[in-house]
Amino acid sequence: MQVAVIGGGYVGLVQAAIVADLGHDVMCCEIDPEKLAALQQGKTPIYEQGLDEIVARNHAKKRLIFVSDLAEATRFGEVIFICVATPANEDGSPNMDAYWDAFGKILDIPADKPKIIVNKSTVAVGTAREAQRLADEKGSNYHVVSNPEFLRQGTAVSDAYNADRIIIGAKGYAEAAALLEIYRDLNRPTFICDTTSAELIKYASNCFLASKISFINFMAELCEAYGGDVKDVARGMGMDKRIGPSFLQAGIGYGGSCFGKDVDALVHAAQLKDVRPEALLAARSVNHHQPVRFVDRIERTLGGLEGKTIALWGLAFKPETDDIRDSKAIDIANELVRRGAVVHAHDPEAMKRAAAAAPGVCFFDAHLDAAVGAEALVLATEWNVYRNTDPEEIRQRLVRPVIFDGRNMFDPVEMRRGGWKYYGVGRAE
Ligand code: UGA
Repeated sequence: MQVAVIGGGYVGLVQAAIVADLGHDVMCCEIDPEKLAALQQGKTPIYEQGLDEIVARNHAKKRLIFVSDLAEATRFGEVIFICVATPANEDGSPNMDAYWDAFGKILDIPADKPKIIVNKSTVAVGTAREAQRLADEKGSNYHVVSNPEFLRQGTAVSDAYNADRIIIGAKGYAEAAALLEIYRDLNRPTFICDTTSAELIKYASNCFLASKISFINFMAELCEAYGGDVKDVARGMGMDKRIGPSFLQAGIGYGGSCFGKDVDALVHAAQLKDVRPEALLAARSVNHHQPVRFVDRIERTLGGLEGKTIALWGLAFKPETDDIRDSKAIDIANELVRRGAVVHAHDPEAMKRAAAAAPGVCFFDAHLDAAVGAEALVLATEWNVYRNTDPEEIRQRLVRPVIFDGRNMFDPVEMRRGGWKYYGVGRAE
């Protein structure tokens, strides 16, 4: 099948690469000249495990080509995926300018046979319905389908091949058929529903996961107050099949470009229709509170932060990515600096991006060097390089063996046995 992908950013590039890898001919349209130049040489301008290999392989086979002309891509595609950015407006609603711009340009290219336009980006609820109305008004041959993205940064490629489900929102089976064919060889469970339900499934999934994290962070605070261990609480809860064990890791709060944005967008969507968004407001407020609560604990334990050197490991919003958008690790770095600490930070991938977002911080190329002469180690992102570091190596470099483990990555019993003062999130002291 001939497939066009509009937008070679994170979502678009992963989508283009996977669809090409499934054996389809893909033309991906990217307007940023720098990105396009890299892509046209088969190079991947973002960091995502395994993606560069898939892009290079399919580019070499000429199954994945990159162009700057949206009209050329539209003419090429029997199915056209719109994968443009929909960042948040000030009021929390998704900014749909890039989407409507791309959609309008596609509609301007007459289709001589029925074609499918697929909304892959996360869009405002009701977008597909409105887009279809505009397409019908023009008497065009385009059918609009919703096919939300559920990939996680860092594991996008394996998530795509092992997807729990593929959601297709369409007017009827005929409109969904092209997508069923594109994804056939993935062989994953597929659910077809109407377009608005599909758009809501995307928001509901992210908001539910965000709420799950805020719930366990609330339980963590209770564990600290009463002396329980949140890891055990999560384990016990997760054994109930109705609850499930995933996304119950307490820590410094959720970050990244999706959860915060999607919670805000669903709150906004609810308010537009006079639906009370209290459940989400609570999840959001718990999350905002996490970095401050964590730094309060560090300050209290160390008896103040003024002039104290703190080693901070991790700046990305989670491991296996260089993304620092809404990263709680960055919030912690800035809050430590604001309270007078000297922060020595390290991250395996995110330091270049972090420099502008955390200007008061000193960066170190080696994580162990960041620990030299520090009063405490703060672990903010659970990279494997930190997990695999011998605690004794860290201890030798610190002034005192004190660790604040914002991701509950280390084993408190072993750390304490090794002479450490260990403080996790929601773990009894
Ligand atoms: C999230 C969703 O998981 C994807 O399904 C979705 O496609 C994506 O948003 C999107 O809308 O594009 P992502 O933002 O890449 O994916 O990252 P997650 O792995 O979900 O983690 C989000 C944040 O929650 C991270 O800061 C992570 O550290 C935190 N988290 C996650 C916890 O604090 N506890 C957990 O138990 C799990």
